[in-house]
Amino acid sequence: MLVENNVALQPLNTFGIAARAQSLIRVRHEDDLTAWRALPGWVPPSPDAPVFVLGGGSNLVITGDVKTLILKVEIAGQRLVEETEKGWLIEAGAGENWHAFVAWTLAQGWPGLENMALIPGSVGASPVQNIGAYGVELQDRFHSLDAVDLVTGQSFSLDAAQCGFGYRDSVFKHAPSDKRSFGLAGRAIITRVRFLLPKPWKPVLGYLDLERKMTETGISQPDAQQVFDWVVAIRRAKLPDPAVIGNAGSFFKNPTVSLEQCADIIAREPKVVHYPMADGSIKLAAGWLIDACGWKGKSVGNAAVYERQALVLVNKGGPKQPCTGGEVMTLAKAIQTSVYERFGIMLEPEPVVL
Ligand code: EPU
Repeated sequence: MLVENNVALQPLNTFGIAARAQSLIRVRHEDDLTAWRALPGWVPPSPDAPVFVLGGGSNLVITGDVKTLILKVEIAGQRLVEETEKGWLIEAGAGENWHAFVAWTLAQGWPGLENMALIPGSVGASPVQNIGAYGVELQDRFHSLDAVDLVTGQSFSLDAAQCGFGYRDSVFKHAPSDKRSFGLAGRAIITRVRFLLPKPWKPVLGYLDLERKMTETGISQPDAQQVFDWVVAIRRAKLPDPAVIGNAGSFFKNPTVSLEQCADIIAREPKVVHYPMADGSIKLAAGWLIDACGWKGKSVGNAAVYERQALVLVNKGGPKQPCTGGEVMTLAKAIQTSVYERFGIMLEPEPVVL
């Protein structure tokens, strides 16, 4: 284990924001955490001595140089744990790239993750915000995970119920002091994640964009590789590739409102995109709300609203003149205010702000 000092963070966040970390430790194995705890002067993480666990940096806005110690997860490895009548149980190290992992499972003949192709980030970050796309959420394929408690050094495992998954949410997004009594943000580091890919495989094709692909191609019974290819094509057409233009995916969560609130909005804005949820509430498309307020292409400094998807904020300055985290947050606040003034809805940001 090596403690690196004064580390450039620009290559470590998909927004491409330039900042430096005072110190960073690359965690390639659980033993690195033991070595870290054995360093002279080590103190357990606490609100006064916090640590930040960094994965692929794809859901992150950095607002300045970082004094907090960063633990960068780089644990590798992927394997089939067992195949049963129920499905394939597969395990991956938290540091594996998510999309490469999805592609690998398909190449092995283990379908089930194809709707979540091309989501930026690492395997270890996938449960943190319960990633999801095109009708499948991580929690639908999740089995369990291994983690290490940064305070006690103990390893532990969590099943889905213990992860407290919600829409783009889990216990790993909440501080231990949160009202949700079991927050693990800054307290635990995910080391390995296991997925159960159910048998028999059934394609999930209910999402409008996928239905369109079926009509366009005339393929009504696609295999998993076909769904994967469609999802990749849809995402490439709509969402900016972070390798080309920096971004952190959807910047806001899609808000949910009550039936009455929705009826009130529809009366004023008949075209509002809305989806009824199982619990009776209505989910609104945040991208539509932002778009309706005229934000596409608008910017604050070098932070801008993506022209093809108003839900995505981008770094239009590129690596040479990157936007700052402050510009991103100023733009985000202006968007929140305008959506609130027009629709009475306060959008909630999705990324973690550091
Ligand atoms: N829309 C507009 N204008 C826009 C953007 C969207 O009118 O500028 C409309 C679209 O036409 C569509 C609706 O809003 O009718 C929803 O848009 P889209 O289908 O693109 O999906 P989304 O709700 O914006 C969510 C996830 C994405 C995920 C896609 C596909 C959230 C916050 N975002 O986006 O996840 O890939 O669905 O399942 O839930 C991410 O979390 O980083 C992410 C990219």
